[in-house]
Amino acid sequence: VNTEGGNLTQIADLAIGGAMNVSDAHPRHRPSAGQRQIIDGLPALFEEARTRPADEVEERAHQAFFTALGQRGALSGRRILNAYASSVAMDVVARWLASRTNALALIHPTFDNIPDLLRAWSLNLVPVEEDELVHGELSVLEHVGALFVTTPNNPTGVVVNERRLAEIAEACRRHDSVLVLDTSFRGFDRRAQYDSYVVLDASGVEYIVIEDTGKLWPMLELKLGFMVASAHVHRELADALSDIALNVSPFVLSVVGRLADDAASGGFDELHRLIEGNRQALKQALHGSAARLLDHDTRVSVARVGFPADTYANDVERALRTHGLHVFPGDRFHWARPWEGDHWVRVALTRDAEVVTAAGRMLAQHVAGPRRSSHVGRVPEREDLSQAV
Ligand SMILES: Cc1ncc(COP(=O)(O)O)c(C=O)c1O
Repeated sequence: VNTEGGNLTQIADLAIGGAMNVSDAHPRHRPSAGQRQIIDGLPALFEEARTRPADEVEERAHQAFFTALGQRGALSGRRILNAYASSVAMDVVARWLASRTNALALIHPTFDNIPDLLRAWSLNLVPVEEDELVHGELSVLEHVGALFVTTPNNPTGVVVNERRLAEIAEACRRHDSVLVLDTSFRGFDRRAQYDSYVVLDASGVEYIVIEDTGKLWPMLELKLGFMVASAHVHRELADALSDIALNVSPFVLSVVGRLADDAASGGFDELHRLIEGNRQALKQALHGSAARLLDHDTRVSVARVGFPADTYANDVERALRTHGLHVFPGDRFHWARPWEGDHWVRVALTRDAEVVTAAGRMLAQHVAGPRRSSHVGRVPEREDLSQAV
């Protein structure tokens, strides 16, 4: 919020309706054939959600979603809490954390609304670098009451693997620290789909996991966030949540359940192909320019595009915006040391291929002739995009 030019959500707001929006990670590609069928069946789903017992609808949706992501361990003991979106879940979690501690270690870099929401509850944040999370001693745990990890991380795609999660959980347990995971990007990377709840429950750590449906399916912001916690935390979180919502819509739960079934029977494979194809298309479009992809072993639905040291992400973002192309500048993700993100922008890949290719070409042209913004390529018209299937 305190960054000149606005936070990432404010930048994303400028992009809504923009000719070429590759800023936010909310999916905006064409629905697949399987998703089309679900959309066509919405009236029947509405009737079903209206007439069936609510807890049945809820249980079915949870079964479908957590099974599709390999997280069946979350299904035992009826401990999944529903929120309208993962940011709402995050706010509830932050509020609970503030009752428990005043200092929290947070992965660095990460999506800026995570530090913003935590700080809004007066939590002091200590940055933990990804390398430290993946290999380090985690000595930071001596000074904080909780550790917050986004895995896979947004924007880098770095994943905490099963063995490392067990080590982190054990370290948190020893230090009496709560472990919080944001797994919003789990659906993109099978390496993040081992059953985290088996690992967490075996360790005896106090934990909360925020799961998210909102990054996976192009459903015009129809989404949910879920919170799953260890037993004691669950009771207190449920109290905190009850101040905000009675429950989410059973209709939305039903739709999420159907989307998850579709994902499990081939939809995720199709999504992964779209993302990989778009990452390659972006790489190809940048080829020969001074811009390049920064992350090579990532599978998440965003890509970091890096520039030479004389090219600043905020200049690129502003210049391209005047040409109708919207991206996210890197500094916002580096919430503790913004200058570390001065030379890259993030491009969302849950878009149709032609949008990503056109965005890559514009970026390449811009960086090939920095600050000569008149050389930036033409923004495709909406009709061009819809015809280019
Ligand atoms: C890791 C992560 N968590 C949570 C959110 C918030 O999601 P939403 O805007 O759907 O609430 C985002 C948004 O991009 C995110 O990247």
